[in-house]
Amino acid sequence: MSYAIVVHGGAGPRRDQEHGEAARAGCLAAAEVGAAVLAQGGSALDAVEQTARVLEDDPLFNAGYGAVLNADGDVELDASVMDGETLLAGAVAVVKTVKNPVSLARLVMEKTPHVLLVGDGAEAFARAQGLATIASGSLVTPLQHQRWLTRQGSTHGTIGAVAVDARGQVAAATSTGGTAGKLKGRVGDSPLIGAGTVADSRWAAVSCTGAGEFIIRVGLARSVLEAVRHGASLARACEEAVAELSRLGGDGGVIAVTPQGEVGWAFCSERMAGAFVRADGQRGTFFERSP
Ligand code: GLY
Ligand code: GLY
Repeated sequence: MSYAIVVHGGAGPRRDQEHGEAARAGCLAAAEVGAAVLAQGGSALDAVEQTARVLEDDPLFNAGYGAVLNADGDVELDASVMDGETLLAGAVAVVKTVKNPVSLARLVMEKTPHVLLVGDGAEAFARAQGLATIASGSLVTPLQHQRWLTRQGSTHGTIGAVAVDARGQVAAATSTGGTAGKLKGRVGDSPLIGAGTVADSRWAAVSCTGAGEFIIRVGLARSVLEAVRHGASLARACEEAVAELSRLGGDGGVIAVTPQGEVGWAFCSERMAGAFVRADGQRGTFFERSP
C-alpha cells in the first residue's frame, strides 16, 4: 500500500495570479504536513486533521482564522471529519470561539455518541474537553472585516483534505466559514456527512467545496463514493458528480482518494485551489480551469 493526500483550499470565481500562487503554495504546504504524518506510518485520520488545522490557521483560506463573516459581521464555522476504517464521523456547526473546528469535530466523533453538535452546545463541549477556545471575534481578520463593511471580495471558500495511509485506510476532513453574508445560523454542506465529507476504506474518501445549498441537495461527496462502489474510475466518479452539481446550477468541486492510493479531483467553478502528495514522491498543485 502507498499513502497519498489531496487537499483543496476552496472553489469559486477566477482570482488573480498572485492569489493563485499563494493558494497553491498554501495548499501544498498543508499537504506536505499530512504527507509527513503518513510517511511516518501515521493514520489517514491524523493526516487529514493535521492538514486541515494548517489550512484553518492560514488567513488566506475561508476556515478558522480568516473565515468570511455572516450578515451580522460574525464568524460562524462548520467542520467535519470521517474515518473510513470505522465509519465513525464527527462534525460541528455554527461555532465562533474554537480556533480549530476540525479538531472539535474529531472530539465529537471520539468522545460522544453523536455525529453533529452545533452552536452553544458545541462550544460548551469544546470547553469541557479542554480544547483551546478564544474570544468571540478573534477569528475576524482585518481583511474580512473590511470586506464585510464594503460587501466586497470573495463570497465563499472551504478547505478540505482526504488521505489514504500505508495500511490502505482512508479519511476525510472539511472545514469552512461558509458563505459571506449568510444568515446567522445558516449551515452549509461541510459539516454534513455525505454532502461535504465522506470516507469508507472499501471505496474512497471525499471532501467537497462550493455552493453548499446545492452540494447538500445532490449529496455530492456520497455520489462520488457510490460511483466508485459501482465500478467507475475515480476520475470519472469525480467528473460525473460535479456535472450533476453543475446541472442544478451550483458551482464547486471535489477531491478524492481511493484505498489503492489513486488521487482525483474535479470542479465546475472557474477555480479550485488544491495540491496532492503521493508516497512515490509525486506532488503537484491545481488552481484554475483553462480559460
Ligand atoms: N462556496 C463555498 C465553498 O467554496 O466551499
Ligand atoms: N461549501 C461550504 C458552504 O457552502 O458552506
